[in-house]
Amino acid sequence: MTETFIVVGAGHAAGQAVATMRSKGFEGRIVMFGDEPYVPYERPPLSKALLAGELELERTYLKKESWYPDKDIDFRPNTRVTAFDRKARTVTTAKGEALSYDKMLLATGTRVRKLQVPGAALDNVFYLRAIDDTLAIRKRMAGGSRVVIVGGGYIGLEVAAVAVKMGCHVTVLEGLERVMSRVVAPEVSEFYAQVHRDAGVDIRTGMAVSGFEGGGAVERVHCADGSSYDADLVVVGVGVIPNVELAAEGDLAVDNGIVVDEFCQTSDRHIWAAGDCTNHPNSLLGSRLRLESVQNAVDQGKTAAAAMCGDRKPYAEIPWFWSDQYDLKLQIVGLSEPGDEVIIRGNPDERKFSAVYLRHGKFVAINAVNMIKDFMAAKKMIAEHRAIDEDRVADAGVALKDL
Ligand code: NAI
Repeated sequence: MTETFIVVGAGHAAGQAVATMRSKGFEGRIVMFGDEPYVPYERPPLSKALLAGELELERTYLKKESWYPDKDIDFRPNTRVTAFDRKARTVTTAKGEALSYDKMLLATGTRVRKLQVPGAALDNVFYLRAIDDTLAIRKRMAGGSRVVIVGGGYIGLEVAAVAVKMGCHVTVLEGLERVMSRVVAPEVSEFYAQVHRDAGVDIRTGMAVSGFEGGGAVERVHCADGSSYDADLVVVGVGVIPNVELAAEGDLAVDNGIVVDEFCQTSDRHIWAAGDCTNHPNSLLGSRLRLESVQNAVDQGKTAAAAMCGDRKPYAEIPWFWSDQYDLKLQIVGLSEPGDEVIIRGNPDERKFSAVYLRHGKFVAINAVNMIKDFMAAKKMIAEHRAIDEDRVADAGVALKDL
């Protein structure tokens, strides 16, 4: 009898997973549910080229729309899965349909964390996570408009770089004492804050937004220190939260993410999960974690789909991330921790340098700015838990791979 695989979600992990299912030779039925109108697409351009109007929408798609019918994949856009029944092995959608599965993949991703302050529901207060968010922001971001950005993380700074290039007046209000503090070393934060300031962005740290004011649409942003900022639009990027409610209501183990093993299998032997929504083990890091990254979505999408097809290979990758702002390519490998030793290689003034993180003499993470070779070498060295010659790290004249 033909088996049915159901995929809940149509993001990066889901898009990769359905491709892997077919490439592994699965010939049964595949049904993929997405709650947006689009086929799976790449999110990175949403806060970069798509926002800047430099990329056609279709170019963000992982596969062309015609690929899904060609591969006999039943893609159901605009359809939320609202519940599943583990015993009966069925899912129910918001449209009232019920469908049986033999195996299911949950790739439900994350959603934006919303600001809970007065006026947060005013028009032109935007969040950026999906294509429609980017299109709405782009429409409002006509040259000359006043853009206030809340959050100096990836979203906030990438949007700031695009907006200021489009001629907008841009203010970034970051809650903590430095930008991108979740992911980079203090020296790198300082460098990026200066680059933005040089480009004309007003970067303010240690700011607590207390409310938005306006009649219908937002006109002003107020902060707890009494300062306020005129705004034609606001973009909020203060982090995301994993979509685990469906899994929890379906009685799967959930703990800051859907709990999976190294094969992306959940606590139910018929159900797998992949991407930003999972809490997974990583043998290379010796810990469990939840990751928000394209690399993890792609790799777990492959791992889960292969395992569903009977090809069980454990997931174990060193996490990596990137961010494009202006002419700068920031590439991050590994996960740093407070207390790690940080050594700077190269010269920030030349817009080419790396922050190398050491823990007990071992190379554990890197923030590489326009240092592609460091990034490539670091991926391998960190995965191999290499010790590194601390005395020579700072010398960018010596290739990282030779240390
Ligand atoms: P983020 O965690 O990178 O940054 C959020 C920032 O907002 C932090 O600097 C935080 O200190 C600040 N913040 C938190 N609460 C605040 C408040 N009340 N007022 C002011 N500042 C506040 O999250 P972000 O930028 O929202 O990105 C969301 C997701 O999208 C993440 O998963 C991220 O990895 C992903 N993303 C990744 C990109 C990349 O890799 N280049 C680009 C864009 C997004």
